[in-house]
Amino acid sequence: MKTQTIGDLSRWVGQTVELQGWVMARRSSKDLVFLVMRDGSGLCQCVADRSTLGDAMYQEAEDLTQESAFWCRGEVVADPRQIGGHEVRLSEIRTLHLSKDFPITPKEHGVDFLMDHRHLWLRSKRQWAIMRIRNTLIMAIHGFFQDRGFVQMDAPIFTDNACEGTSTLFATDFYGHPAYLSQSGQLYGEAMAMAMGKIYTFGPTFRAEKSKTRRHLSEFWMIEPEMAFCDLKQNMDLIEEFLRSVVGAVLEKNRLELELIERPIEPLQKVTQAFERIPYEEAVQIIRGERLVNGQSALDVLRDDLAQVRLSIEETRAEISDREAKLAQPGLKKGEIGHHQAQLQAARQRLDQAEEQVRNLPQWIESAANFQAGNDFGGSDETVLTRLFETPIMVFNWPHEIKAFYMKRDENDPRWAKGVDVLAPEGYGEIVGGGERETNLEWLVDKIHEHQLPMEAFEWYLDLRRYGSVPHSGFGLGLERLVAWVCKLPHVRETIPFPRMYGRIAP
Ligand code: 4AD
Ligand code: MG
Repeated sequence: MKTQTIGDLSRWVGQTVELQGWVMARRSSKDLVFLVMRDGSGLCQCVADRSTLGDAMYQEAEDLTQESAFWCRGEVVADPRQIGGHEVRLSEIRTLHLSKDFPITPKEHGVDFLMDHRHLWLRSKRQWAIMRIRNTLIMAIHGFFQDRGFVQMDAPIFTDNACEGTSTLFATDFYGHPAYLSQSGQLYGEAMAMAMGKIYTFGPTFRAEKSKTRRHLSEFWMIEPEMAFCDLKQNMDLIEEFLRSVVGAVLEKNRLELELIERPIEPLQKVTQAFERIPYEEAVQIIRGERLVNGQSALDVLRDDLAQVRLSIEETRAEISDREAKLAQPGLKKGEIGHHQAQLQAARQRLDQAEEQVRNLPQWIESAANFQAGNDFGGSDETVLTRLFETPIMVFNWPHEIKAFYMKRDENDPRWAKGVDVLAPEGYGEIVGGGERETNLEWLVDKIHEHQLPMEAFEWYLDLRRYGSVPHSGFGLGLERLVAWVCKLPHVRETIPFPRMYGRIAP
């Protein structure tokens, strides 16, 4: 018999299976050992009973430590109370490798410690769930475009041009010539779209901003569709359908994972509703509290949030002292101690987050109220703007001065560039940036000068406007920002197996 995987156990209820994997957790009571096995495909509880296994094998189960590898055989019992919905009653067990002192224990660890142990941290339940959701998104993205006749094509990573501005380039040496790691595959995407009609790239991109915010990575994966004969409106229609489809795939395939990371699903289910499309000018009014959405001012709502958070801080502090007092009592059972400690840890985390909000909110409100029209939105402005919406929103028609050189100017009102940013709700902000591309050769040349970019590096790009130039559009989705929102993570560092960001290149 070949070994089965935990992910497939529902097909084996009532039958005997062989599994191989690692010990995620172990506890024992009199003559019973409970092992939570993980094998990459899922988690399940394996029960070792002394009377079935005999003393020698039972001892083997007893001796297994966290992250030891083992093989086992046993009967699958359906049990909805158990993680994954099954339990395996062991008839045989064999140790494959005994792990000693796994550094990541169930106790609390700081983020730096976990990041230093990212190669091991990936094994945790939470990281496992996030990576599986990431995988679903990747496959759903390919599926979406493939179903619609897009051709997947790859843009180069070494480039000689700055697509998204010169300030965030990683320079490298290409046989003695300066070259940069690509910030975006878009310019090549445009050339490929003129050859193939509709294409998308899916590859790593690099940004050198020395930014330590929760949404910046130095290396991230971007999906960039580009379509010939497509204007801004059609582009926005596609983005909306696209996000609805890929988030829908996660809701369909990853219920267990979403539950493991305690991600409420109602906000994600809202993607079936229409996404609000707001011109930049109106977005500015909302940010300043001058324009109401459904009768509400974004700033008033944030002020209410602040009052709420202050209240919750007092409650959480009271809960913490209460738990500390309980833990100080003599004669507590092991289970009770564990319970109080877990609750205490959760309460302390909530307190940290709430205290951070109390520090941030007044600044955010202040800077939103004083927002200057013409500026780009900062992270906090996006949070203010999206506060009153439950679906992602699309902000379009941006001041051309703050957008990339390739954006199409509105012929009727050249103040505006036909760009669109998609901002995710729940405080996440920008996940997609895109727009219609300039087709007017003269305007494009002017912009290249205005941005002080070297014309030679863009000659080939200008050819696209010389030979069969047509309206075309596209967008870029940052995969990690999408994963962060879908999983409701506080930081993008957990959305990619091995994050590269300012101050971190190992492991
Ligand atoms: O808005 P951006 O800079 O747009 C472009 O690069 C266009 N060329 C895309 C296009 O039209 N083909 O980046 C697009 C998206 C952002 O909305 C964000 O989701 C993500 O890429 N992104 C980052 N993600 C993580 N870390 C960073 N430093 C990111 N910079 C951008
Ligand atoms: Mg952008």
